[in-house]
Amino acid sequence: MEKLKVAIVGFGFMGRTHYGVWKKLRNAKVVCVCDSNLAQITAKTKGNLDVADNSDLPSSVRVYDDFDKMLETEKLDAVDITLPTPLHPVMSIKALEKGVNVLCEKPMAIDAKTCDRMVATEKKSGAKLMVAQCVRYWPEYAVLKNFVDSGKYGKVIAADFTRFSPAPVWNRGGKCWFLDESKSGGVALDMHLHDTDEIHHLFGMPESVSSRSHLHKDGWTDFIVTTYSYPDKVVTSSSSWAMAPSFVWESGFRVVFEKAVAVLNTHSNPAFVVYPEKGKPFTPKVPKASGYESEIKEFVAWISGDEANPVTAQSARDSVAIVDAERKSAKTARSVKIQI
Ligand SMILES: NC(=O)c1ccc[n+]([C@@H]2O[C@H](COP(=O)([O-])OP(=O)(O)OC[C@H]3O[C@@H](n4cnc5c(N)ncnc54)[C@H](O)[C@@H]3O)[C@@H](O)[C@H]2O)c1
Repeated sequence: MEKLKVAIVGFGFMGRTHYGVWKKLRNAKVVCVCDSNLAQITAKTKGNLDVADNSDLPSSVRVYDDFDKMLETEKLDAVDITLPTPLHPVMSIKALEKGVNVLCEKPMAIDAKTCDRMVATEKKSGAKLMVAQCVRYWPEYAVLKNFVDSGKYGKVIAADFTRFSPAPVWNRGGKCWFLDESKSGGVALDMHLHDTDEIHHLFGMPESVSSRSHLHKDGWTDFIVTTYSYPDKVVTSSSSWAMAPSFVWESGFRVVFEKAVAVLNTHSNPAFVVYPEKGKPFTPKVPKASGYESEIKEFVAWISGDEANPVTAQSARDSVAIVDAERKSAKTARSVKIQI
């Protein structure tokens, strides 16, 4: 079987992280990488999970600094877009219009209106667009989804999700595009979206949201907390870029079912524990593959015509629409209805 020919576009933290997964797959091959800053192809970068040291590109992988030239020259089955957020719609649309399948990093785009253009282009093109909402594939979150869908522990009564990190400047010289909210969408769109998307994935669209946020002295949002309105459960989530640089990344959830509580806290050992109504607390078995590996395998299965459950462009777009409402709510200090 011929391997799928794939290009990674943007070879920063996520490009390298994804490369680490692609190189393990048997049915796909990275044939080229593109970065407007060629030094990125060999430079070491550092991101929030510290897994991105993948500078061992074989010389057979062709290198481009111009996306249009790469699309023109290569015969590709897929592009993996790991660029800064403002470039997600531009580059995804160009690739789709050429009939090339797209795996696009989250957030899909800066707002739902921009996402709509991507959804429309995908429909017209006949190619496929999946958004890399990796938390849906993260092992503990995948197990949680199974608990919710199976009803194994009854209905969910309440759920709280958290994601706390220092500002994402790492070795980016103390300032970078992430801190420009017009580019990244700030902590609400760049990081909090992970939990908003998970909440959407688990419980469907909320009726409304009520958010409060805190502004850093330099004008960007560094903390957001949201209550998502559902008729039968209490759902909350908070995310921070306000933690001191020495703070170690923390994320997780506390989901209260009728007959158990499921808790994930990356600062605890064990991190994932289920406290059942009867019997002792235990740590459930989780899939071994990382969320990044599972999401990329899902994308490959989908574009290969195999059975798959991808994050569709419409579903990712709807998660961005929830965050649009959260940002509006935080600004106005009022509850905001979700418009689809
Ligand atoms: N899923 C996750 O867990 C996760 C984690 C971190 C970042 N992200 C997302 O991934 C995306 C990229 O983030 P990152 O941390 O890798 O950023 P980054 O700044 O480390 O990397 C972006 C790369 O794109 C390159 N680039 C910029 N403009 C380009 C152009 N016109 N053509 C080609 N290359 C260009 C830059 O030179 C850089 O190497 C963002 O949207 C971010 O929100 C997702």
